[in-house]
Amino acid sequence: MSIFSGFENIISENCPLRDYTWYGLGGSADYLIRPQTTEQLQEIVKRCHENEMPLRVLGFGSNLLISDEGVRGAVLRLENETFCNSAFQQNTLTAGAGANLNKLVLESVRKGLGGLEACTGIPGSVGGAVRMNAGGRFGDIGSVVRSVTVMDRAGHIFEKAKPELVFDYRTVNITAKVILQAVIELTESDPEVLLQQVKEVWIYKKNSQPLDTHNAGCIFKNPRGLSAGALIDRAGLKGTQVGGAVVSEKHANFILTEKGCKSSDVRQLIDLIRTKVHKQFDVDLQLEIELW
Ligand code: EPU
Repeated sequence: MSIFSGFENIISENCPLRDYTWYGLGGSADYLIRPQTTEQLQEIVKRCHENEMPLRVLGFGSNLLISDEGVRGAVLRLENETFCNSAFQQNTLTAGAGANLNKLVLESVRKGLGGLEACTGIPGSVGGAVRMNAGGRFGDIGSVVRSVTVMDRAGHIFEKAKPELVFDYRTVNITAKVILQAVIELTESDPEVLLQQVKEVWIYKKNSQPLDTHNAGCIFKNPRGLSAGALIDRAGLKGTQVGGAVVSEKHANFILTEKGCKSSDVRQLIDLIRTKVHKQFDVDLQLEIELW
């Protein structure tokens, strides 16, 4: 009997994940699970834990590369309303992990609440953005998150707040498996000024990044004090191609995919970039995207 008996209506077996990622590449998950309530989520998480089944949480798939062989175990998607709700109360925004960060940026701006503008154009879920402290040169989400509610592998729900909650460059000290919601502290500001800032971030990105292509954002983290894109560029790698994967001519820290591209093409190109950058600059590039 399946370890998930009783949950058949929220589980897709052998489910292709490509359509859930921006790259649109890769194989299937053994189980894709869409819990409808927190109780269901708790039970699923517990059963995975008891049966030592790997468990992953899928956000909006914008910083993710799924392998051609797919993913063993269970993949959760918190797409039910229960996990996507958001509410403003004065300066505080409480947002479910499945909420759309981009929409919340604009909603906050309209309300004259500042703090999220740096997250303009980040096509992520709140949970995913918190997990990797999404951001860019204008700031990151971690600077405005006050606390998070999380669920550990045993299904226990608890809150972690600053100062115990510590964000760093593209990372946060959350070890719990599932992020359920984030409380975000905003500042009253002039909506016109905020909108102008949002526009500036958009224009900057549009001018410097290949936004209208199949990609997963920056592939590598910036090494301290350096730009991964500039290093890859200086190594002469713009335009380098493996199969259907090619280093963007516009910004070298982006890998674009052409029709017929396989996930393994992207991985091989990643390895090639790492090797060349190491050889030339003695710098070990660390991945920003997640590999499943
Ligand atoms: N540069 C090059 N060649 C390139 C790319 C960049 O010479 O191919 C140079 C630029 O001219 C600039 C410097 O490198 O002098 C830095 O580049 P950029 O300003 O584009 O910023 P970045 O450090 O490459 C970071 C984030 C981006 C974020 C932008 C803007 C990381 C790894 N990257 O890029 O984040 O959008 O700032 O805020 O933190 C992402 O996280 O997915 C992402 C795209």
